[in-house]
Amino acid sequence: MTDNISALDQQNISIKRLAQILSCKPGEEREALRLQAQKITFDNLSRAIYFRGLIEISNVCTLDCRYCGIRQSNRSVRRYTLSHDEVLAAAMECVEMGYGSILLQSGERTDDAFIDYVSEIIRAIKTKSRSEKLPDGLAIGLSLGEQSEKSLERLYNAGATRYLLRIETTNPELFARIHPSSQSFENRLSCLRSLRNIGFMTGTGVMIGLPGQTLEMLASDILFFRDEDVDMIGMGPYLIHPDTPLPGAPAMSNEELFRVSLNMIAATRIVCPGVNIAATTALETLHPEGRQTGIAFGANVVMPSHTPLYRSSDYNLYKGKARLSRDNGDTWERFLEDVKSMGRVPSFYAWGDSPHFTARTESHD
Ligand code: 5AD
Repeated sequence: MTDNISALDQQNISIKRLAQILSCKPGEEREALRLQAQKITFDNLSRAIYFRGLIEISNVCTLDCRYCGIRQSNRSVRRYTLSHDEVLAAAMECVEMGYGSILLQSGERTDDAFIDYVSEIIRAIKTKSRSEKLPDGLAIGLSLGEQSEKSLERLYNAGATRYLLRIETTNPELFARIHPSSQSFENRLSCLRSLRNIGFMTGTGVMIGLPGQTLEMLASDILFFRDEDVDMIGMGPYLIHPDTPLPGAPAMSNEELFRVSLNMIAATRIVCPGVNIAATTALETLHPEGRQTGIAFGANVVMPSHTPLYRSSDYNLYKGKARLSRDNGDTWERFLEDVKSMGRVPSFYAWGDSPHFTARTESHD
């Protein structure tokens, strides 16, 4: 490989070149990739690490994604929906921790009663989480799957300002293989675009290492993030859940999967400099140092779990989910120490909007 990583042209980079970057093995060139991603992170987002308290509010799901442990057809799941007070208590825990924001995630339900339930919770959290240090309360992000434009507007009007909806893969054939035919790529894309139009800080992402997925497909995913102008990105390795029907062998060994996942973070940081990128739970599940290493490769956000412990194990999208949390041994303290020793700054009482979002919304005013 001759051309320099630091000289990559963000707009004109080819799929072929990106796929080459994704295949980087440990060595000089990979360290150059990591350092370049780190430099772009520092230049565009400072050294801050932001926290989003993750609250998995319900595992009831009407969909049947073939990779997901909480798919409707999985009868072995004990279904739950947290009460209004349980969610509020978890959100107040996040306030106490000093986080600037939370993410409410659930299985997909589109009925009005569900949207009522979430809207009421959003309103209550916005009111209750205000403090001197956080005058406008917690920033609330949602990850509730595909919703109608009307429902999304209701959620936005209730006070949620961020939304994550992973496209999962931008390859239409692969998308069709991992989802039942009732779920369409077009619908997901149109929902993603609605989010942006409504005014949400919009996030998407993909799974890495799906059966049949190639590095070229992952390279196209990165160009999709750039071209759809998204503000936040969450990506993680695909991890098998034993009670799911997705056929085919994993695309890579665990070692390769970890390496490619980190390369994806670095390459995404280079192509989309001002977006927030999460070091995900799946990455930590794959490797005990996954979150910290994700940060070293260009991530700037982590999502510690604040789902009540007695429900957390009922929300298994895949097997062996890691839990970064104050209630899980010394994971929280160790994480903070590691992050600081990497020269990064855990950031409290700050929303941590992505600079990309700030720039695009200011220029549209
Ligand atoms: N492995 C990894 N990630 C998964 N997700 C769902 N199932 C799995 C799995 N088996 C991810 C999807 C979804 C997000 C909430 O969790 O990308 O969008």
